[in-house]
Amino acid sequence: MTETTTHTISAEQSRREQELTDRVLASFENTPDDRLKQLMQALTKHLHAFVREVRLTEAEWEKAIEFLTNVGHITDERRQEFILLSDVLGASMQTILVNNPADGDATEATVFGPFFLEDAPEIPLGGDIAGGAPGQPCWVEGTVTDTTGRPIPNARVEVWEADEDGFYDVQYGDDRVAGRAHLYSDEKGRYAFWGLTPTPYPIPHDGPVGAMLAATNRSPVRAAHLHFMVTAPALRTLVTHIFVEGDPQLEIGDSVFGVQDSLIKTFAPQPAGTPTPDGRDLGDQEWARTRFDIVLAPATA
Ligand code: BEZ
Ligand code: FE
Repeated sequence: MTETTTHTISAEQSRREQELTDRVLASFENTPDDRLKQLMQALTKHLHAFVREVRLTEAEWEKAIEFLTNVGHITDERRQEFILLSDVLGASMQTILVNNPADGDATEATVFGPFFLEDAPEIPLGGDIAGGAPGQPCWVEGTVTDTTGRPIPNARVEVWEADEDGFYDVQYGDDRVAGRAHLYSDEKGRYAFWGLTPTPYPIPHDGPVGAMLAATNRSPVRAAHLHFMVTAPALRTLVTHIFVEGDPQLEIGDSVFGVQDSLIKTFAPQPAGTPTPDGRDLGDQEWARTRFDIVLAPATA
């Protein structure tokens, strides 16, 4: 007899189940592309192991098919529920980890998310990405270096974030461009800009993925963050965020598992009237400041 989590099955039953798995594995033996063969056989192995481990009922199998069908139905050019599903299962983040191996003190990567736009406006060093988006002004500064500590001039730094109401510009459905920009590091690898102090917001949760989160008592909310994508010749492109130290959502859990401890930064509150680094007059507004030093791995690592 073989023990599973809640069932005991006979040796004959186990033999039949394994024999089926072996037949499916064998069906991929003649795949001309070695990598495709490896992927299909590993998928078969793990999928069959899952079905056997949980003793999947036929009603549960039907429900799973219905769920995936609904994920497909809600997906269109503007909404990608399959990526969202991958995100909340941690599959996106695991793929990022596998493809961005640790390299010295290179900055850790995290999820890309659906709200990046290719053609965000360019701002000068010290410029403002808000473009009218509401939120608390936040001075963000740092350097871009490689893993030997060499400053990287002219690195392209793309930044994007939600406004204080938790929405990206693209979610308003008009043509506004706000809360996003790109800039270039100076000759010493330094960069700085005005952004908004990030606030937590939910991922789209009015579809099947949201229903799955509700059924499993999970929060759809992402920990407050500011997105970065940093590119420079011969260095590995970095897609990451910084998170806000003290954000309660860090304790509750980020819905897409994007948080790494090294990416949690102090956003120091600055009372109204505190002089700004560039002399900007913010009147009676409070503001915040943070520092994010970015280290890029070699492209070949
Ligand atoms: C985001 O951070 O923008 C995001 C990431 C994953 C899913 C949804 C949103
Ligand atoms: Fe985001």
